Amino acid sequence: MPSETTLPFTFNIVPSLESILDKYDNHIARNLSAMKGQYQDRAAYEAKLTEDDPVLYEVYEVSRPPVAGELLMGISIVRPGKVGNEYYMTKGHFHTVLETSEMYYCLRGAGFMVMETPEGDWAVEALKPGTVLYVPPRWAHRSVNTGDQENLVTFFTYPGNAGHDYGTIERQGFRKIVMDHQGNPEIADNPRWMPADVRR
Ligand SMILES: [Fe+2]
Repeated sequence: MPSETTLPFTFNIVPSLESILDKYDNHIARNLSAMKGQYQDRAAYEAKLTEDDPVLYEVYEVSRPPVAGELLMGISIVRPGKVGNEYYMTKGHFHTVLETSEMYYCLRGAGFMVMETPEGDWAVEALKPGTVLYVPPRWAHRSVNTGDQENLVTFFTYPGNAGHDYGTIERQGFRKIVMDHQGNPEIADNPRWMPADVRR
């Protein structure tokens, strides 16, 4: 007799609930205060934080055992907004097991996925409803909501053993940033980017 975790199951993405899952095990909400050092305009960040500590994004996860044969799944919801001219975004991470990939499917909103490898490659891909994005092994990834009012909602799935390395991005940032330039999103070099081995 299989245990409950080995039985097939279904869940639904409910459009009326802004595409939130009707079944999930874990809910994460990240506030502005969790993004210290990630935004270019430090003064704008501090000023905003003295007024409020808004939720920038949420994740609803369907947990599975953290082993290679499993797939974790969930929904990421990045809120619209900016810190200075830089859009609300996720913390971004490498997978602890670098040789693991991830798939995203955009359900709502508009934005970008900013990506890079430890070897120095970078990529920024646009996300809109219907876009499927494959993030190959070794690519760190961060989603950015460039919409004025709408949430950026993506469904994701990745191997159960992948893990999250947030620390590397917290130290060095991403090579590329997405800024609002006169009302349009613009991809720019991150003037604060620094490889981990230089900063240490
Ligand atoms: Fe990931």
